[in-house]
Amino acid sequence: MREYKIEAVVHICEMAELSEADRKLVEAAKQATEGSYAPYSKFLVGAAVRLEDGTIVLGANQENAAFPSGLCAERTALFAANAQYPRQPVVALAIAARKGRCFLAKPVPPCGACRQVISGVEDRFGQPIRILLHGTDGVLVSEGIGPLLPLRFVDGDMR
Ligand code: THU
Repeated sequence: MREYKIEAVVHICEMAELSEADRKLVEAAKQATEGSYAPYSKFLVGAAVRLEDGTIVLGANQENAAFPSGLCAERTALFAANAQYPRQPVVALAIAARKGRCFLAKPVPPCGACRQVISGVEDRFGQPIRILLHGTDGVLVSEGIGPLLPLRFVDGDMR
């Protein structure tokens, strides 16, 4: 048996340490929680996607009485961005979540299905997406989905 070590490096930043563009994206994700429809979980999630030309597209989780029919904020934003601007690569994605008026202290972790979709969007445009996970204690920054989804399944695995 061989040990295969997987290492992941991410950074936890104060808002002031982020670039102006990334700060703006995190603020947009916080603002996007206003569009959340979460009467069941009461967990309000917002996402903001920045495209290569600087366009920002927002998303928020949308729930349904038939639970699996809802969608997370990240996928809402990514699918909306790709549907409206199919030729614009996604360069960054920020996520924020709150319960009531209180944003989470720890950086909000995207679910597995959203990580897979982020990976697919990176593949589609052939470039990593900077991921900014907001928490009031700090913003977790990952340069691409790799650190959050090691050993991921990509298009090339089918060839
Ligand atoms: N949710 C997101 O929008 N993004 C995530 O990454 C985690 C979970 C939503 C889905 C559901 O509406 C609520 O949070 C509780 O799971």
